[in-house]
Amino acid sequence: LKQVTPLEMGIKYFEMYPEDKEPVWQDPCVYKRHMQIWSANKSCDRLPKFLVVGPQKTGTTALYKFLQIHPAILANYNSPDTFEEVQFFNGNNYHKGIDWYMEFFPVPGNATSDFLFEKSANYFDGELVPYRVHSLLPKAKIICILIDPAKRAYSWYQHMKARGDQIAGNYTFHEIITAPDSAPRKVRELRNRSLIPGIYVQHLQKWLEFFPSRQIFIIDGGRLKSNPVAVMHNVQRFLHIEPHYDYNDYLRFDPKKGFFCQVSSANKSECLGRGKGRHYPPMNETSVEFLEQFYRKNNVALSKLLSKHKYRIPDWLEKELSD
Ligand code: A3P
Repeated sequence: LKQVTPLEMGIKYFEMYPEDKEPVWQDPCVYKRHMQIWSANKSCDRLPKFLVVGPQKTGTTALYKFLQIHPAILANYNSPDTFEEVQFFNGNNYHKGIDWYMEFFPVPGNATSDFLFEKSANYFDGELVPYRVHSLLPKAKIICILIDPAKRAYSWYQHMKARGDQIAGNYTFHEIITAPDSAPRKVRELRNRSLIPGIYVQHLQKWLEFFPSRQIFIIDGGRLKSNPVAVMHNVQRFLHIEPHYDYNDYLRFDPKKGFFCQVSSANKSECLGRGKGRHYPPMNETSVEFLEQFYRKNNVALSKLLSKHKYRIPDWLEKELSD
């Protein structure tokens, strides 16, 4: 029998089991043994009851703002380094641990009736995210928004261009989406960020491996734009949230913005900033055709997956398939 220091033992262990190097956070309050070693002044009430997972450019900010109107819904505090979103489950922040994560949430006044949530729009297509979310928050409800993936890709490109991204400034949208694998790395990266989140079926399948469909709510992003009042009605029903709010009193179409905006207490429109609901020229025909081709197989598979799980087919998908 050999005696070694704990450090040496640790090194040996991770040599033997390299897969254990990645931590997996679980809810300490679910297991009795964890609870016993969990400090008395800590609480599991500061974990979200639901997550808005994206994908990016589908209307996630609008939904986030609309949810915050509800008195029983409490959003996360903003993160100073990740453009407001917490982005815990998808990247290196995960290694900062659950105490770090909980700091982003207020202590709820009433843990049963208050609904804490966070929105991180790139959770949807993050490889490890469904597994990690399920490990920590197995009962959480998941909300995602789907729009025509071609429009999503174009919106992402326009977003990067407006933010001064050099690649988006130097290459046309068509050049980006059709870039070959031999293209420079940054061009491929923009191509991938434009195209890959829109392969909805692949990402949704991953979520459905970990969560039953009754825990996942899919919003038709077209409806969120054209009739957010009806969408918010359905979201509240899905969450079983009380009191039920009539969003007719809080949202109003603003002709100047071209979108629904929040109605302030002074009866003024409070719209999202200039970066949301941008004006840009329509996509050119060749890109439309390319993307139609690119997403067709995935869209067919998506409609099958949605039907299998008894989801309503979004209007844009119905139209896409009938075309
Ligand atoms: P565009 O700016 O390309 O039109 P996200 O918040 O996920 O980044 O999504 C941004 C998109 O939300 C916008 O993309 C816009 O089309 C859409 N959107 C939906 N409802 C909106 C609203 N009420 N106000 C502004 N944008 C809205």
